[in-house]
Amino acid sequence: MTEDRGSARWWKEEQIRYWRETTDHYLKFGATFQAGIFRDGDSAGESYDDNNRTIVKRSGLRRGQVVLDAGCGVGGPGLYAAEHVPDLEVHGITLSPYQAELARKMIAASPAGGRIHIRAGDYHELPYPDRMFDRALFLESAGYSFQLEELFTEIGRVLREDGKVYIKDVFCRPGKLTVQEWKQIDLFRRIYVQPTPPMEEMTAALETTGFSVTSALDIMPMIVSKPVEKDFGLPRFREFSNLPVHWGEIVAVKTAG
Ligand SMILES: C[S@@+](CC[C@H](N)C(=O)[O-])C[C@H]1O[C@@H](n2cnc3c(N)ncnc32)[C@H](O)[C@@H]1O
Repeated sequence: MTEDRGSARWWKEEQIRYWRETTDHYLKFGATFQAGIFRDGDSAGESYDDNNRTIVKRSGLRRGQVVLDAGCGVGGPGLYAAEHVPDLEVHGITLSPYQAELARKMIAASPAGGRIHIRAGDYHELPYPDRMFDRALFLESAGYSFQLEELFTEIGRVLREDGKVYIKDVFCRPGKLTVQEWKQIDLFRRIYVQPTPPMEEMTAALETTGFSVTSALDIMPMIVSKPVEKDFGLPRFREFSNLPVHWGEIVAVKTAG
């Protein structure tokens, strides 16, 4: 434990360590690192392909767009999108240099590999020019941000006029928590090294940084949990009961700058 526990630098170092420890384990379940499979309409929700198809559809990815995959993991969802949407260009960024290296290897083997680019870096300080992107995706990744307003100000900078942010994530339940629930969420935040804010905190940060939130949904009924999911994050895994979290989806459009 370093002295500046809780500072931006501390979160960063802890998260890099977390992903170095656990990425090989997550890979056993595939190249999409999400705890809940999102299904829509006729999708069975049996695989990460179903999840990624749902996300491509609901985030409005279209031919020829340039997309930021913010917190891209080893690139599974970004690669799925590039393989299924013609001429889509995807730029993924992950805090973990180890994940970026694995992602680049995986992408090199795909026919769509030339349209997906991965870097190691911090999504609060993006290495891209102003107004480069049509869409910014956060797939179970925005909840790791330790500075939401800084994050969305930076996302506003790299999005084009009318550009959209699409977020699918795990959020802390709003309202008062019992002592037991508080202890559970506190442990969850420490183990998974993520602040896990309530959804309202994220939508408020978007609204104060030049975005208009067009939709903010509790998507619990559309999430399928896989039996293997309880092993996520090993070797840090713990059993939780009555953890006060839910999955949510936010769509916001850039209105300023
Ligand atoms: C649960 S994984 C999800 C990965 C990917 N979106 C997917 O669906 O497979 C969370 C990701 O967020 C990334 N992340 C967390 N904080 C970040 C930051 N400050 N900058 C860039 N990436 C970050 C982690 O490196 C990790 O790749």
